[in-house]
Amino acid sequence: GIRFGLAHTDPAGNPTNGYEIKISTQAFTLGTYHEYGNVKLTDSGGVDAWDNSKYINVWCLYFSDYPTLLGISTPYSFTVAGFGSIPNNHRGVCVSYKALGKRVSAGDVYQSNIFDLGRTLTHELGHFFELWHTWGDDNGLCPWESGGNDDGIADTPPETDHTFGNPSYIISGGTSFDGCKNNPAGTLVQPYGKPCLDFMDYTDDKAMHMFTTGQAAVAISKVSPGGENYSLTQNPVLLNWPAGIAEIETNAHLNIFPNPTDGLINITYNSATELQRVKVSNALGQEILRADGGTVKNGLFSVNLSGLAKGFYFITCNFATGSITRKILLQ
Ligand code: ARG
Ligand code: ZN
Ligand code: CA
Repeated sequence: GIRFGLAHTDPAGNPTNGYEIKISTQAFTLGTYHEYGNVKLTDSGGVDAWDNSKYINVWCLYFSDYPTLLGISTPYSFTVAGFGSIPNNHRGVCVSYKALGKRVSAGDVYQSNIFDLGRTLTHELGHFFELWHTWGDDNGLCPWESGGNDDGIADTPPETDHTFGNPSYIISGGTSFDGCKNNPAGTLVQPYGKPCLDFMDYTDDKAMHMFTTGQAAVAISKVSPGGENYSLTQNPVLLNWPAGIAEIETNAHLNIFPNPTDGLINITYNSATELQRVKVSNALGQEILRADGGTVKNGLFSVNLSGLAKGFYFITCNFATGSITRKILLQ
């Protein structure tokens, strides 16, 4: 439910591709808050953050002191004893140059073949929005054991320790269990196995598939009114190219998810005009359902299709400036 984009307008109001490149031989090191503080300051050989209330900053670097580290995040809640909370211009995400983005050609530099699909940034952004590792970082315990911990999310099942690799996983009648399968009362608490499909576990990039509804709710709460990252959503203009620069993200302001769905469809949009109407039609083009979009210009709109026969449908969203149609699968 959160759409990210490279900024097209920099803090000075000029067109930008959304990144700055600096060639450097500076050794970047962990720092006070484990935030790689020196990469975040021009004065210490790095690059200053863009206003953190408007942009999420991602620094891509060589971790000189931990060369195999993939990424590290400094969310707002993070504090260090004796130092307090992290300075605002040190907040954000660091990703190794060997783990950023998706491998497009064989010669691209990657730490290894198992971390070449860009999931490191997905995982780190999870941390940025206050999500913790699925196993609760408790060195192999179950949440109910003394010293055990949980990720605080009700719909990620308990997990003893991180899961590595690309575990074979069967969802119905799940077979991938660990020592937290049953709670002390003997109740099965891993009905679908352990959470090794989750972006917040430690599996290979190709094994990472999902955030749960509970995790998404935490992240969405951070960008909702009153949330610690709400201000990030208040500058949609930064995603537009300044006047005179071609718009390259056609339709990108509309998200329809989940797809496939088993009923509920969420539509998020970030449009200059309000969503006037949502229409659902079947594969033959016959209109099945029509709903008024409401009066907000940036929002979330939901339609429930659970009563309909399974199959393909078209969702048409009408804005004053035009309409966009997407195909969805009800299953
Ligand atoms: N070790 C890092 C962290 O805990 C990143 C893990 C990323 N995993 C991956 N499959 N890309 O924040
Ligand atoms: Zn992590
Ligand atoms: Ca847990």
